[in-house]
Amino acid sequence: MQLTEYEQEMLDGRYGEGMQAAIEILVKMGGLYGAERFLPVKNAHIDAAAYTTIWDAGTEFVEFLADKGAKVSVPTTINPMSMDTRRWREQYTSEAFAEKCERLRKAYMKLGVNPTWTCAPYQCTNVPVFGENVSWSESNAVNYVNSVVGARTERLPDLVDVCCAVAGRVPEYGLYLEENRAGEILFTLKGFDGSAFRDTVDYAVLGYLVGETAVNRVPVVLGLPESTMPDQLKAFSAAAASGGATSLFHAVGLTPEAPTLEAAFHGKTTYETVEITPAEVAQMRARLNTGDTEKVDMVLMGCPHLSFQEIKEIACGIEGKKVHEGTEFWIQTSHPIYELASLAGYVEVIEKAGAMLVRDTCLMEMEYNGIWRGKHFVTNSGKAAQYAPAINGVKITMADMAGCVEAAVTGKKPKEA
Ligand code: F3S
Repeated sequence: MQLTEYEQEMLDGRYGEGMQAAIEILVKMGGLYGAERFLPVKNAHIDAAAYTTIWDAGTEFVEFLADKGAKVSVPTTINPMSMDTRRWREQYTSEAFAEKCERLRKAYMKLGVNPTWTCAPYQCTNVPVFGENVSWSESNAVNYVNSVVGARTERLPDLVDVCCAVAGRVPEYGLYLEENRAGEILFTLKGFDGSAFRDTVDYAVLGYLVGETAVNRVPVVLGLPESTMPDQLKAFSAAAASGGATSLFHAVGLTPEAPTLEAAFHGKTTYETVEITPAEVAQMRARLNTGDTEKVDMVLMGCPHLSFQEIKEIACGIEGKKVHEGTEFWIQTSHPIYELASLAGYVEVIEKAGAMLVRDTCLMEMEYNGIWRGKHFVTNSGKAAQYAPAINGVKITMADMAGCVEAAVTGKKPKEA
């Protein structure tokens, strides 16, 4: 790789051993991907936050960087860790596990990271602009900033993301290069009426289907309604990145690099085309729905973390009602959104109903203590529908916002599911 004078100085150790280690790793990685140079980044988002992802070895690496004097050199946000620092005891986390999480938290604080602990930093704490190079990890966030914002990032591996934040550099490869951002497969929506794509869950199921079919190609989606909201694109991003390896998609007429079909494909006229009909979406949803009991043990919302608007909708739906005894209702969000929701009175409404607002973390990043095995979850998230069965051994029923609230209140599978 061609290095600038400053990058060579980093590599020579002029800015300390921590910085030197970070850039050394990035030089090796750049070589593996055939990168010719580094790109400076304006901001970073780290995925390697959960102890259940990086374990002791990863914790020791972050501590090593921090102990050797490294600091993040650009504004850096961070994904959910493995415990809610306030309510972990109510969430079945053990003392021993909490200590591990606290050790990792301290190392990141020493590194100078913004303690957001959220997988949706683009909702308020880290909002890149169109065309900007950033170094992000966390699959939903990568897909969202590439596609919906039009910033540029690769899906960086855990701990490499930390090195990028420290060095403020990323090897130029993959989605940083214009030619790799062209659409590669077209999905046309056929036969949907005006009632389709009103609720987030519709986007989650469609996203999962598109991601699974596209695998690692850049999908272009034609036919989503103009009324599509950012929260719905968030659900699509998360599900497409879970069903497949989508890190960039184009929704014609909605996302910034796809004002037209031609622009989405960078002028190419030959590509594979797949038609998606209501029957296929229904089939996908039926596949994700593995819940086989009437009784619901958990309603899980906030994968990715919820926006203010979504919390407002839950509060309006549950006001004056009570979560059913024997059913838990977890609502995952970030600190800033929680504070705003609290100012608006929604936190009080939700807590009065008996639901739990979870911050800092999410259920899938917590201790794998087996307590959810075989339980029946209701969720509106395509990503949770993929991860919670795989990680926690649960069964899933997908539902829209109203169905999730209904399941929490009745303790039963919602009628529309
Ligand atoms: Fe976020 Fe956890 Fe889902 S990190 S996207 S809530 S699996």
